Amino acid sequence: MLSDVQSHAPDGQPWRITVLRNANGMIATFMDWGATWLSARVPMQDGCVRETLLGCATPSDYLHQDAYLGATVGRYANRIAHARLTTLDRQLQANQGEHQLHGGPEGFDKRRWQIVSQSDSEVHYRIDSPDGDQGYPGNLIADVRFQLDDDNCVSIRYEARCDQACPVNLTNHAYFNLDAHHGDARQHRLQLHADRYLPVDSAGIPNAPLKAVAGTSFDFRQAKTVSQDFLADDDQKAVKGYDHAFLLNSAGDANQPAATLWSADGKLELSVTTSAPALQLYSGNYLEGTRAREQGSYTAFQGIALESEFLPDSPNHPEWPQADCWLQPGDRWESITRYRFTPR
Ligand code: BGC
Repeated sequence: MLSDVQSHAPDGQPWRITVLRNANGMIATFMDWGATWLSARVPMQDGCVRETLLGCATPSDYLHQDAYLGATVGRYANRIAHARLTTLDRQLQANQGEHQLHGGPEGFDKRRWQIVSQSDSEVHYRIDSPDGDQGYPGNLIADVRFQLDDDNCVSIRYEARCDQACPVNLTNHAYFNLDAHHGDARQHRLQLHADRYLPVDSAGIPNAPLKAVAGTSFDFRQAKTVSQDFLADDDQKAVKGYDHAFLLNSAGDANQPAATLWSADGKLELSVTTSAPALQLYSGNYLEGTRAREQGSYTAFQGIALESEFLPDSPNHPEWPQADCWLQPGDRWESITRYRFTPR
């Protein structure tokens, strides 16, 4: 699956692939480049195995896609308006027009992470991000641990420390497709425990206060297919579908449900819990042409990302009702997100 003609990464070192396995025969695969979640293969009740993640055929293909497939994203996932930390009067490096997306032009997804340790059930990666990296203040060290347990749960635990005050928003950018043949993922059913979402403009920058989902296409409090109200209102039309952060009712409590996704045939369920305040629902609106594991390239909407995060542009919006995204020197930034796969 992952043999590669270009066997070395841009830094001249080989890619390092780690395979985690559990007692049910579930297999999750990771790569040190971008601390990337490559694959999650779930044994089904009928004896078949389903690949639940979008991904590329070879490690080097990951260098030629801009969908952030399975990558660890940082220092700040999602957008920072005008690539500017206004309270510090500090300019970051822009990479989406004048804005910054997913940590800047050389974000954590485009870097080698060190493997601190690995076993059959856990891999621990670390990255050193120097003062000024992508414009951010302070020397930052980030750790991410991926763990697979016997409940088919992939837990992702993030930690960061920094010697200056810096906003931190680490997430994973996996795209899920729980169906056997990876058709249009909008046929999946989704439940999202969120009463409010954040409207954005066509560049994905928040342009209005948090809005109640009640009476809008953003109401996933009762499960419905992603296709049901697709493009039903202007907030979706601005970004070609769902590409929005929802403020979770769980409010940082990783023991409460955040979201559940079901394959179109109902045979596989994915539940998401997180200590992050928000979840970005991205329906793969811009996936078209992304290099694919099996069929050449993906089409739009072939995968759904559920990214645990602070709301986009939070460093510039202290008024929003969520925990503070600023990491202070001497403190430790922590976050955990769990993706549990249950065959039905
Ligand atoms: C963003 C999308 C973007 C995608 C890939 C998502 O998290 O919200 O707008 O196209 O990442 O970059």
